Amino acid sequence: MEIDSAVRQRLTNANQIHLLAYWSELNDEQRQILLRDINEVDFERVNQAYDAIKQELLTETNGQTKTETPQVIDDIMEPIPDHMAGSINEASKEQLDTYRQQGLKAVSESNVCVLLLAGGQGTRLGVDYPKGMFDVDLPSKKSLYQIQAERIRRLEQLANEQYNTHNATITWFILTSEHTQEQTEKYFRSHNCFGLKRENIIFFEQHTLPALDLQGKILLEEKYKLTKAADGNGGLYRALKTRGVLDEMKKRHIKYVHVYGVDNILVRLADPIFIGFCLEKNADCAAKVVKKTIPTEAVGVICKVGERFQVVEYSEILEQTAHRKKPDNSDELVFNAGNICNHFFTVDFLQDVCQKHENELRYHIAKKKIPAIDNNGVHVSKPTQINGIKLEKFVFDVFPFSKTFAVWEVCREDEFSPLKNSSGAKDTAITCRRDLMLQHVRWLQQSGAHLPSDIEKHIETVGKTCEISPLVSYAGENLEYLKGQKLELPISIDKKNDKQEPDIDLPKKITLTNGIKPISIQTNGIHH
Ligand code: UTP
Repeated sequence: MEIDSAVRQRLTNANQIHLLAYWSELNDEQRQILLRDINEVDFERVNQAYDAIKQELLTETNGQTKTETPQVIDDIMEPIPDHMAGSINEASKEQLDTYRQQGLKAVSESNVCVLLLAGGQGTRLGVDYPKGMFDVDLPSKKSLYQIQAERIRRLEQLANEQYNTHNATITWFILTSEHTQEQTEKYFRSHNCFGLKRENIIFFEQHTLPALDLQGKILLEEKYKLTKAADGNGGLYRALKTRGVLDEMKKRHIKYVHVYGVDNILVRLADPIFIGFCLEKNADCAAKVVKKTIPTEAVGVICKVGERFQVVEYSEILEQTAHRKKPDNSDELVFNAGNICNHFFTVDFLQDVCQKHENELRYHIAKKKIPAIDNNGVHVSKPTQINGIKLEKFVFDVFPFSKTFAVWEVCREDEFSPLKNSSGAKDTAITCRRDLMLQHVRWLQQSGAHLPSDIEKHIETVGKTCEISPLVSYAGENLEYLKGQKLELPISIDKKNDKQEPDIDLPKKITLTNGIKPISIQTNGIHH
């Protein structure tokens, strides 16, 4: 089997002829694999991407760190203007109710969809399956995907009840990658889509880019195989375009899209309050944020830079900028809008971005130790030093194209607890589980149930449990029937339904008469 001269020419033109260096050593099958890989690469895109980041890469590689370069951004960044921002802590109850009603109305009219970013490799978590399948060891053993599916179902139900409709549909678009596509689909299929209709879940795969060495040459994973990496969660925009997803949204009369990351166990999918706020602000693009825990928390902040809005990473600003306080003696940080990968977009905005600006979205450099064939032709599965880069786009890089941007602040303890790490003090399965259960304790307290005074301690240190199914409550509602009841841990509140039986034994069944569906509750001691 010989190489087509056109392929050779293409590689020469793209300055990537080294990809054929081991051709003579390969058997026919390997040669076919290599040619297929080469044919799949858009060399123009790869080289343009490298050219765009080359300067930044060289500056960093020459030992110049960000703090030594002039901090232009610190001088020009400003907080989000008040008229574009809102906060769940500052809005009145009436205002929140209005937002909620508006959001629910849009849901009841099936104008809202959710879009899950589930293409990441979850390297820090280190499991060999998609992160959404992870079970943080709740009593119910529900995975992140199942929790999300059940929140969708509950919200559809709430919208139907509120607006007397029957078919409120929140279509679930799921962005996967070559690392997650197959297993994710299989998992959903084998769990009967967690009671959602199959036709309302749409998987679509993001594209890949080869990993490059520091000089821009494509790295070989094997002598016959190119390295490939997902193009970052900002690969969403290319995939929206190439996979026909925007057309599907239009076909379904969807107008608003809630985009979110897979790993936040507290995520409020299609949160009607957030949607309502965005509608009220007439936003084309918006972000949910939380206050930073400490000024130097490693989280991007949303701010205004010049006339545009963007996320500025903590590493991009000086420490003194991160520490700046508001002049009003409130002790609040000036740059305090922590990005939590929860975004609102109108379909029109996405259409505009995908058609006109997708190519303008810059690539970010992730320097990595990439398993690859080294310069001596040896496969190194665990490089000891950084040997290459992956190029990624970020989902929030479209903010600068927004004409009517808005930012909605929520409480971290209610809405943000991501699963990132396999161990440590932060963002692990243990912290996710704890945060979800503590939220459920608060919901019970707010509903007027009587709980032991040291209940938080029992959850945090003694390992007792409190879990409320998302099918029962989306955000703390629907628990009023527990008012005045004395409960003790463990508490497990679930709902029997036709599509999926709860996998726990449910000793008590309470049937309610006020329009709330039958609920089963299991608790160590429920006292009437
Ligand atoms: P992270 O940046 O936290 O990446 O992704 P990750 O893959 O989950 O974890 P690490 O960094 O490898 O440990 C934030 C969100 O963006 C999605 C992830 O699935 C997650 O929901 N993502 C990331 C994609 O959809 N595609 C990508 O190429 C990268």
